[in-house]
Amino acid sequence: SESLTVGELAEKLNKDSSEIIKKLMFLGVMATKNQELEPDSIELICDEFNVEVEEEVIVDETDIENMTFDDNPEDLKERPAVVTIMGHVDHGKTTLLDQIRHTKVTEGEAGGITQHIGAYQIEHDEKQITFLDTPGHAAFTSMRSRGAQVTDIAILVVAADDGVMPQTKEAISHAKAAGVPIIVAVNKMDKEGANPDRVMQELMEYGLIAEDYGGETIFVKMSAVQGEGIDELVEMIVLVSEMEELKANPDRLAYGTVIEAELDKGRGPVATLLVQNGTLNVSDSVVVGNTFGRVRAMVNDIGRRVKVAGPSTPVEITGLNNVPQAGDRFLVFEDEKKARSIGEARAQKALEQNRSSTAKVSLDDLFEQI
Ligand code: GTP
Ligand code: MG
Repeated sequence: SESLTVGELAEKLNKDSSEIIKKLMFLGVMATKNQELEPDSIELICDEFNVEVEEEVIVDETDIENMTFDDNPEDLKERPAVVTIMGHVDHGKTTLLDQIRHTKVTEGEAGGITQHIGAYQIEHDEKQITFLDTPGHAAFTSMRSRGAQVTDIAILVVAADDGVMPQTKEAISHAKAAGVPIIVAVNKMDKEGANPDRVMQELMEYGLIAEDYGGETIFVKMSAVQGEGIDELVEMIVLVSEMEELKANPDRLAYGTVIEAELDKGRGPVATLLVQNGTLNVSDSVVVGNTFGRVRAMVNDIGRRVKVAGPSTPVEITGLNNVPQAGDRFLVFEDEKKARSIGEARAQKALEQNRSSTAKVSLDDLFEQI
């Protein structure tokens, strides 16, 4: 992740470049002052000078994806669980979430198909839970493939009259890759032909074994349309989240992940962010993916303007210079100038990478034509 030239490393170690070059030569590596060093070589050199490779030594401030943050354990406070609702198309994810929220999101959706990732928060027994709805998972896949882990618990919705389908399997592998607990919601129990036992048997193949079958996976039989089993499902979510002991530090600068983003005609770039740690404030200076800005306004999941958003809170912001992508990381900086320079450096880098990949494609095309 971090890369440094010989000269840059020398500067950080407060040595002369020639000393570094000499050490490298001794280690069998021929190098010049402007040469970029492999992380392994950096570590060897630091070792030679008895310097610990600490974050401060070789931190690349533009590499916001790989930045790590330590919080003192005493600063950590309980935070809401982030629960992702996954499953095959039409198995009832959005209807389930509607029931949980007691609202009607599906009616507003074009053709009843989820067009975006909805992010919502509910309160149950004075506990907040954050829910993410997934549309056939395209964005979720891109988040996962880019290493962004946003979810704590996965709800796998399987229609009892349809059983395990391709996207059910995909959802299972996503949740397993993320290492998060899975709760199975066997939906559409009201339908003729509903066969929950078949669902349980099919899922055994994927290691999801119901308690009835001697396993430990929680299965909740329900009907999202009739509202049956919803309370039990929410209880189970609370139970599992309590076991996870989810914590964050609300008193630090915020960071988290972009859930969705678009260009709004009137408001400019709009991004839904999930705050994963810290607290996001209006007028914070923020780097978001390859863009940056100052948070102009924040709107919560029910369309209300808010001034602060704590850990696990989804919030829509305006004030960015450009539209980021789902799965991008965001990070608040204390210093507006720093946010700008890091944002600009990242935009520049993205542009260059884009250019070189475009050049490569056209070269391939050329070869194909010949
Ligand atoms: P995508 O977002 O397109 O992947 O679908 P989804 O999983 O969000 O499914 P959605 O909630 O949009 O429901 C699809 C259809 O199934 C709708 O017509 C719902 O009314 C219906 N449906 C959902 N849950 C139930 C249920 O428990 N019983 C019955 N009978 N129908 C249901
Ligand atoms: Mg949906």
